[in-house]
Amino acid sequence: MDRYGVIGRPIRHSRSPDIHQHFALLTGQNLSYERIEGTADGFETEVVRFFAAGGLGLNVTLPFKERAFALAVQRSHRAQVARAANTLGMTPEGVLWADNTDGEGLVRDMTLNLGVNLKGSRVLILGAGGAARGIVQPLLKAGIVQLDIANRTVVRAQTLVRELESLSNEVSCRAFSWPEIPAHGYEVVINATSTAVAGDLPPLPAVLFDQRTLAYDLGYGKGLTTPFLKLAREAGAGQTEDGLGMLVEQAAESFYLWRGIRPPGAEVLYALRAACH
Ligand code: ATR
Repeated sequence: MDRYGVIGRPIRHSRSPDIHQHFALLTGQNLSYERIEGTADGFETEVVRFFAAGGLGLNVTLPFKERAFALAVQRSHRAQVARAANTLGMTPEGVLWADNTDGEGLVRDMTLNLGVNLKGSRVLILGAGGAARGIVQPLLKAGIVQLDIANRTVVRAQTLVRELESLSNEVSCRAFSWPEIPAHGYEVVINATSTAVAGDLPPLPAVLFDQRTLAYDLGYGKGLTTPFLKLAREAGAGQTEDGLGMLVEQAAESFYLWRGIRPPGAEVLYALRAACH
């Protein structure tokens, strides 16, 4: 049977096996998908061993995404911008390739599952770390006109923005520290900080959110909410969404890269949400 898996540490709570097995069922693909607990000293060896034993593809999760990127020989453009990979595969010639499907997953969740029209919209990302890097390249290509990045450590936002400016002529990019965040004008505000504690969020200007704002958290928790989404809802955001849809759609994009078949993400997301409640 064709063998796939996800490697991370810790890995036991990963939902990827359920998602991929559901994809396989819905698309009639005969494959196995396992959890692999990676080790700090042995990650590279474990990946090489998996492929040497006939494995066809691996998803990579925290804390190994940067090491997966470094290990691969062929790297997609979006993985290069992210400097991290969540998907590994092998070419027919035996060359290890790396891609990053997180940003594509986010854009597909927004446009396909949530029906958001990103064309012409202005987007603010909170955070400039690995999670933010992982999503910026596909966002730049989604037809948006403004991409601003705000970070506690403003120099990280400035560095990322400088890189983005060289990638796109059509999208205007700016960097801000927390207190400098412009008060309004964004159709989409994305939380890409690693903080899950409301008190750690910046004092976001309440007028940042109104009925037309989509507040999107890359994280997800039980019951469709996170501290950021709660804050956005209280401040008047018209739509608040967690990152479960992105999780499913990034998996769908990986599945597509490996199998050449696009699984129905929305159907699997619906089942996952039902199982969460
Ligand atoms: P990840 O891969 O989850 O993005 P990371 O690369 O360590 O992890 O980046 C974490 C992001 O969350 C950064 O933008 C970080 O801000 P700094 O660059 O200033 O560190 C942000 N972050 C983490 N904890 C935070 C906090 N308590 N308040 C504000 N921002 C925080």
